[in-house]
Amino acid sequence: MKTILQVNASILSNEGQSTRLANDFVQALRSDAKLIVRDLARDPVPHLDAERFGAFIAKPESRTLKQDAFVAYSDELINELKQADVIVLGLPMYNFGVPSTLKAYFDHVARAGVTFSYTEKGPAGLLTGKKAYVFAARGGMYEGTPRDTQTAYVRDFLAFLGITEVEFIYAEGLAMGETSRDAALSKARSRIESLLPAYA
Ligand SMILES: Cc1cc2nc3c(=O)[nH]c(=O)nc-3n(C[C@H](O)[C@H](O)[C@H](O)COP(=O)(O)O)c2cc1C
Repeated sequence: MKTILQVNASILSNEGQSTRLANDFVQALRSDAKLIVRDLARDPVPHLDAERFGAFIAKPESRTLKQDAFVAYSDELINELKQADVIVLGLPMYNFGVPSTLKAYFDHVARAGVTFSYTEKGPAGLLTGKKAYVFAARGGMYEGTPRDTQTAYVRDFLAFLGITEVEFIYAEGLAMGETSRDAALSKARSRIESLLPAYA
């Protein structure tokens, strides 16, 4: 049985356009798959600070109870990723970047020796053999332009963890009037249809 991890980064949870598209995709491909949902609005991941990072790099045998709890929380997020064959990410654009909740999540799942390792040839991702689908919802138009701050960043981050097979599905111009929004959503839905056979 395949496992799908759906990470929703919209502040609107299930009402967000990125979540709705991610939901449509997951429902269409789910059938017999196990689904894990990580909603970053409902369960926000705390900012990474010196105390948490200190716990990540402390030797297991010398960790305090508090440090153990910080590591256990990060491990829980990482275990969801490890279990997943497919990762589906709802990615809104907020103030020209990724949601801060997603950045906090990324900061908790990038762990040396756990999700990536340093080698003589540079960093090597340890979460290999997975496929990711990213549903990018935006008020304006950015795809393919230097103002798209999200695509290269998310692609690079996932590749750093070893997730190199990544498809981006865009819904852009959502705040540019009803016609633009409807056209963007129907284009994204057509893209979902076209991706389904590739998944099977
Ligand atoms: C706080 C906030 C900031 C936003 N900033 C941008 C932006 O910088 N560029 C843009 O194109 N759209 C921006 N938007 C519009 C969102 O990208 C759009 O509403 C999209 O649907 C958000 O995804 P969601 O519906 O899944 O939350 C912003 C929306 C909000 C609520």
